[in-house]
Amino acid sequence: MSLEHWQAFLQSGALASCPTADGRRYDKEIESDWARFFAALPKGARILDVGTGNGPVLLIAKQTSLKEGLNLELHGTDRADIDPERFVADSGDQFQNITFYPSSPTEQLPFEDGVFDAVIGQYALEYGVGDKSVSEIARVLKGNGVTRFVVHHESSIVVANARESSEYARWILNELQVYRRLEQFLHMERIKSPQTDKGYARLEKVGRQMYDQLRLSPNSHILRVTLEAVQNFLDKRYQLSATTLTSELKTKRQTLELALARMQDLLSHACSTEDISNYERYALSSGLEIRARTLQYHDENLVGWVLEWRRNGE
Ligand SMILES: C[S@@+](CC[C@H](N)C(=O)[O-])C[C@H]1O[C@@H](n2cnc3c(N)ncnc32)[C@H](O)[C@@H]1O
Repeated sequence: MSLEHWQAFLQSGALASCPTADGRRYDKEIESDWARFFAALPKGARILDVGTGNGPVLLIAKQTSLKEGLNLELHGTDRADIDPERFVADSGDQFQNITFYPSSPTEQLPFEDGVFDAVIGQYALEYGVGDKSVSEIARVLKGNGVTRFVVHHESSIVVANARESSEYARWILNELQVYRRLEQFLHMERIKSPQTDKGYARLEKVGRQMYDQLRLSPNSHILRVTLEAVQNFLDKRYQLSATTLTSELKTKRQTLELALARMQDLLSHACSTEDISNYERYALSSGLEIRARTLQYHDENLVGWVLEWRRNGE
């Protein structure tokens, strides 16, 4: 699976991947449940966050560590070429004292055996190869070390939103062909083609279709952003050169294509009860014991499974 869509998302500067779709930090139950987990760890515990992205969960760990005087040691791995300090806008010194390891898939962790007190992940474990990831996690855990993974639940609001957004993205890109029609119209107008009015009418028609749909789904971020983008291109078309307009249009379309790929990746990794049982089977055969299987909520909406395991003491 390509990582281009994750790389683009991380470089866009967003902090948390979801369900705060606007990329802000995790909050409410997600934040408080993580804080409670970190607060229960021993002083000086070493924590590894796999599939850390731009490190939002490690920031909760850092905050808890400071508040509780725990002196936690924080590490984050990801298969993508992560660099939160560079990618997250106005990150200041918030990532100071957190060590990040780019290009480090969960299936192949760059650590010695038995070095972590806790291995955690938020929407991360499910993206790797299940059995390999779980045996690597067990390998790097100390005796009595614990895990906490929040993974996508097939019936969660995150999955339902991703499904709806994917449908709109496909509709905009493939059926309405909004960006292609916009590009055609701009070209026709520039060369003073006799077809210009027709081109505008076609663009107006897809615009109306999107407005009608937005009335039915007023929370659709994708519809709103696309409508704003089209209006924006029309407004500034006399101020920008043809080359700039074409290149900006291409970037907008690619951004939507990458968002679609990211949502498809999410949907294909959402876990059923059977998938969770498989993860627990891998855990047991890697010498881990199952402490709990619960559900994660955010604003009282179901957002994931929570898997808590412990490595048998040595
Ligand atoms: C949904 S994002 C979650 C990021 C972060 N944990 C968060 O909550 O914002 C999934 C992350 O998993 C990473 N990823 C995908 N496959 C992976 C793998 N096999 N090993 C480690 N990380 C992986 C992606 O690069 C991406 O950063």
